[in-house]
Amino acid sequence: MYGNDFGTPESQQQAAVTGESESFRAVLADDARVEPRDEMPEAYRKTLIRQIAQHAHSEIIGMQPEGNWISRAPSLRRKAILMAKVQDEAGHGLYLYAAAETLGADRADLLDQLHSGRQKYSSIFNYPTLTWADVGAIGWLVDGAAIVNQVPLCRCSYGPYARAMVRVCKEESFHQRQGFEILHHLSQGTPAQKAMAQDAVNRYWWPSLMMFGPPDDDSPNSAQSMAWGIKRFSNDDLRQRFVDMTVLQAEILGLTLPDPEISWNEERGHYDFGDIDFTELFEVIKGHGPCNEQRMAHRVKAHEDGAWVREAAMAHEAKRAARAEGAA
Ligand SMILES: [Fe+2]
Ligand SMILES: [Fe+2]
Repeated sequence: MYGNDFGTPESQQQAAVTGESESFRAVLADDARVEPRDEMPEAYRKTLIRQIAQHAHSEIIGMQPEGNWISRAPSLRRKAILMAKVQDEAGHGLYLYAAAETLGADRADLLDQLHSGRQKYSSIFNYPTLTWADVGAIGWLVDGAAIVNQVPLCRCSYGPYARAMVRVCKEESFHQRQGFEILHHLSQGTPAQKAMAQDAVNRYWWPSLMMFGPPDDDSPNSAQSMAWGIKRFSNDDLRQRFVDMTVLQAEILGLTLPDPEISWNEERGHYDFGDIDFTELFEVIKGHGPCNEQRMAHRVKAHEDGAWVREAAMAHEAKRAARAEGAA
């Protein structure tokens, strides 16, 4: 998923121990893929629907913070790039809703669950984009963290999800580079531009680390997801991977990460970093982030405004089907 920062799903894996058939176990043991028509435990199916749906919701809500900057991007070139990026995110949402449908989920129902707050989206999108540099910080850090989370999902045990991730990850790498390039440009610009880039990184650094979810000790559902081959690495392992990758890139950018405790640990072969304030994450998950209400209101309005498009598409399809029947 985009991140693991959705809070603990109350229904997840409550029936984890039940109903694993021989054939399902064999597929997992061979590290092969479970396909839509294969037998699978109900708890596996439910867990995947929820994860894929929340991933899809994150992709489409994630269009909002950056979409805000399309009309204000500093040049035509920047506008075109940003528009393409935001459009990619809509496409990611589309692949993912389609992947959830292969498990028998109904797309209208999933959107309903998003709009009524029963399913979450990644909390990172509840932070505001205050300056143009935020678009750079989101691409570099948020899409960067998403890649670290999503690359292992290319080997997820559920075939349609794994295959969707291959293309998504390729596009995310482009997003990460465009963010890096925006920050690099600003960092080499005037002192004011560099300060703007630094400020964006300061605000987005800690929320990006929180995208990997609560620490492993506090992440009760991970073990089952790992056993099912949905999740391949723990939250803390992925977070460490992200920090290791990002510290060097920050140096190239000439920007600092807002954590004085970051230092190379020779013994561990990794960078150490400071403690994360997870109370903030839990507050944002509960709906008290700076933009939760705004994001949901915008999403619900967009859905309502789009009702006529869905109706027209259904009417068109009904006519097409009737014509095909007439011809037959
Ligand atoms: Fe995406
Ligand atoms: Fe992206």
